[in-house]
Amino acid sequence: MGLLIRSGEIVTAADRYIADLYVDEGKVLAIGANLEKRGAKDEVIEASGKFVFPGLVDPHVHMALGFMGTVSADDFEAGTASGVSGGTTTIVDFCIPPRGTPLLNGLEEWKARAKRSVADYTCHMAITGWNDHTAEEMRRVVEDHGITSFKVFMAYKGAIMVDDGELYQVMKQAAKLGAVVTVHAENGDAIALLQQELIAKGDTGPEYHPVSRPSSVEGEATNRALMMARLHGATAYIVHMTCREAVEALERAKLSGQHCYGETCPQYLLLDDSVFAKPDFEGAAYVMSPPIRPAHQGHHDALWRGLASGMLDSIGTDHCPFTIEQKRMGKDDFTKIPNGAAGIEDRLQLLYTYGVCEGRFDLQRMIALASTNPARIFGLYPRKGTIAIGSDADLVVYDPAVSGARSAKTHHSKSDRNIFEGFKVRGAPTHVVVNGRVQYANGALKVERGAGRFLTRAVTRARSEATPRPAGAALP
Ligand code: URP
Ligand code: ZN
Ligand code: ZN
Repeated sequence: MGLLIRSGEIVTAADRYIADLYVDEGKVLAIGANLEKRGAKDEVIEASGKFVFPGLVDPHVHMALGFMGTVSADDFEAGTASGVSGGTTTIVDFCIPPRGTPLLNGLEEWKARAKRSVADYTCHMAITGWNDHTAEEMRRVVEDHGITSFKVFMAYKGAIMVDDGELYQVMKQAAKLGAVVTVHAENGDAIALLQQELIAKGDTGPEYHPVSRPSSVEGEATNRALMMARLHGATAYIVHMTCREAVEALERAKLSGQHCYGETCPQYLLLDDSVFAKPDFEGAAYVMSPPIRPAHQGHHDALWRGLASGMLDSIGTDHCPFTIEQKRMGKDDFTKIPNGAAGIEDRLQLLYTYGVCEGRFDLQRMIALASTNPARIFGLYPRKGTIAIGSDADLVVYDPAVSGARSAKTHHSKSDRNIFEGFKVRGAPTHVVVNGRVQYANGALKVERGAGRFLTRAVTRARSEATPRPAGAALP
């Protein structure tokens, strides 16, 4: 059964124009004026006065993540369904094998969990340690399994953090493979000591979480990650950037010619550290790492400016919800509060309202940041991330005329808190099409467990481009 979307304003990272769209067999087959139905049973969506966006790609989510003694509250079915209702039709999750576990064993387990997805999915492969087999395992992950990006955590000491030697090895091997290295950049050693000192003083509440992770530790680690990537000619992608120091580090690297990318998330643009002062342990709902930053230190402006100027490349969500019950694991010790919050469903409406309507960037830049760039950087483009003949029929019909507010009462995540609770939003998806099927229509989800497909990806950078510069031509 085909689907005809009539008279919508199609918005891609490159264009805006009014046209009809015809899709069938999961692909965009025609774009033009006065298109007709091709079969009697074809569905028609009248989109006059509405936008038609490519389905958003979320480059950073954690479904069913075993982390900090518990498991994130959305499994792949709930999390991707939540994403679909908010216009996200492709996710890049993380496979995080514990230190010492062969990468391919971890991948098998991750795939068993991920196959419940209602939308298409892939993952970044986390490297949580280094041994004699890791380089070869990384090669197999890229060449045999189509996973062309890795992840390293420079924080979470004693759990998934890598040290500098390990970071060095990962960057070196990723450069040889032409793969991207995504990096959680915070100085884990400094954080571990700051945490110990605070707890020893009796400073145990959630409001001390940001105190234990100041922006300087993020700035330093961002510089260090970029230096390690530069040493080997690897492509680094810094995830969930929150602060001025980190943006400045990325800017310096980019302006000196380094091939690197930066991501931020709506919570770092729209929330400030006053959230930690909420009574009755409600501040715990906002505990994530790196932390939400203070309002008056220039962090929010640096992020918004980075997004508009091209210094930052993408906006993910770091969707990693925990219920307040799970957060209570840290009621006497903030270092035990599971880190993370929901966000996959909120991203599009927040970016449209606070990015586009408030004049911080235009519609096409919004699509670039939330769909096209993640698809390009991670080897999914043009199958994902745009609307073009032959692309997957992942589409969002967005009505800019309606308004509402984000709330845990209406979101589809299993999280019982919404960190954007009460945030007013303009516009909403009326229809979300995943692989040619309408999975969300006028408030009703019609998803199918397991309908999502594992996406294999190609390397986006030729190996020859990813070689270190000769001595003398080294970047500072
Ligand atoms: O607090 C966060 N961000 N939780 C998820 C894991 C990570 O660091 O991305
Ligand atoms: Zn992280
Ligand atoms: Zn994350």
